[in-house]
Amino acid sequence: MAAAEESRGTKSIGMVSLHLHDPKDPSLANFRAPEAEAGDRVEIEGIFVYPEFRRKGAAEQTIDYMEKLAKEMGAKVITMNAVQKSAILERYLKIGYREYKPLEKRYLLRDVLALGWPEESVYAAFVEKRLDVVEDQI
Ligand SMILES: CC(C)(COP(=O)(O)OP(=O)(O)OC[C@H]1O[C@@H](n2cnc3c(N)ncnc32)[C@H](O)[C@@H]1OP(=O)(O)O)[C@@H](O)C(=O)NCCC(=O)NCCS
Repeated sequence: MAAAEESRGTKSIGMVSLHLHDPKDPSLANFRAPEAEAGDRVEIEGIFVYPEFRRKGAAEQTIDYMEKLAKEMGAKVITMNAVQKSAILERYLKIGYREYKPLEKRYLLRDVLALGWPEESVYAAFVEKRLDVVEDQI
């Protein structure tokens, strides 16, 4: 993830990776996804924006770009996971993602509490978006 920096080219403002579906990788949201077929699904993993660059739309632009790349790769579905009961999850739902499998306990209570999130945020929510339908059909 890079942003233009005045007179010095570009600067890294965060990170993100796009994973191909691997039905055997339990670290991916896609693991045991219903009706998943290898190649059909890709996952946005580890999206992170450095604190000083947050709330400027970088994550959302990056997600848009990942969706475009995924479509070009022929993927039908793109997935992510997010902390349950979080503003970020709410935002994912607003930009066309939907929850598609049961919650899983994935985060440590001490980390969740340290971030000021409610206790039930130790659960991860798994979201997906279909790439083969046009936006206003969702
Ligand atoms: C989550 C994260 C990637 C968002 O990056 P970002 O570039 O700040 O996100 P955007 O600017 O594109 O925000 C889009 C929207 O998401 C929501 N949002 C993002 N961060 C938020 C926060 N800390 N609190 C509340 N809402 C938030 C808002 O609705 C925001 O739109 P708005 O600013 O117009 O209200 C960034 O906060 C981060 O790196 N956090 C730590 C790692 C992490 O939690 N990754 C996500 C794992 S699911």
